[in-house]
This record gives sequence, structure tokens and C-alpha cells, in this order.
Amino acid sequence: MPTPSMEDYLERIYKLIDEKGYARVADIAEGLEVHPSSVTKMIQKLDKDNYLIYEKYRGLVLTPKGKRIGKRLVDRHEVLEKFLSMIGVQSGNIYRDVEGIEHHLSQDSMECIEVFIEWMSRHPERVEELKAFKQQLEPEE
Ligand code: CO
Repeated sequence: MPTPSMEDYLERIYKLIDEKGYARVADIAEGLEVHPSSVTKMIQKLDKDNYLIYEKYRGLVLTPKGKRIGKRLVDRHEVLEKFLSMIGVQSGNIYRDVEGIEHHLSQDSMECIEVFIEWMSRHPERVEELKAFKQQLEPEE
């Protein structure tokens, strides 16, 4: 199992490769707000643990295991964004909050959240009801 920090890197690398076709150290560092030397160190660890193959002049490629886990992490992130948005969290808070909680949920919690999203999506009026209810509880601005 990758550590939370390894998960952040795998998620970022998977996304970069998905969007741009490659993942450079500088782009990974920028996305995670870390120093490039930390990226290099982590890439070596991910290489050693068989998540990716790193060649100094050719860049990095994810192994099948790295791809599988990277995709799972990106999907999980998206599900959690959807969930927070659905329960009315302001969009400006969503990304950071998901980054904070995504490593700490059990498979059980993830499945329950997915069922909740599905249940809400099948009846969009439920989303509206929840929104209206939340507004009722909030004091007037
Ligand atoms: Co994330």
C-alpha cells in the first residue's frame, strides 16, 4: 500500500500523463507545491517499489501497477469532489478539503459515499431539497 505522500505523487503523475502525455519533475513539483529535489527522491522510491520506471533522460513511465493505482486515486478524488459539491460545500473549499481527507477513508466509507451520490443523482430533486433545507438553517446574511 502506498503511503499518503506516495498517493499524492501517484495521483499527480497519473493526471499529468493523462492530460499531457508526460510528467516532468518540474510539473510534479509545481502541482504538489514541493521542491524538485523532493520529487526526485520520491520518484526513486516509487521506482524501487515498482510503481514507475524512471530513466534520467527519457522521463518516467508508470508500470501497470502504477497506472492501476494512479487511476484509482484520481477516480477517488473525483468521487469525493462530487460528494462535497453535492452536500453544498463551497467550490473554493472543495479541492483542498478533498486533498486533506482522501487518504484517510476506508473502502467502506468510499462505497457508502458512492451509493449516496448515486441515490441523490437518480432524484435530482433531493439535491435541491437539501440545498433549500441548508438555506433554511442558515441565518440571513
Ligand atoms: Co487528490
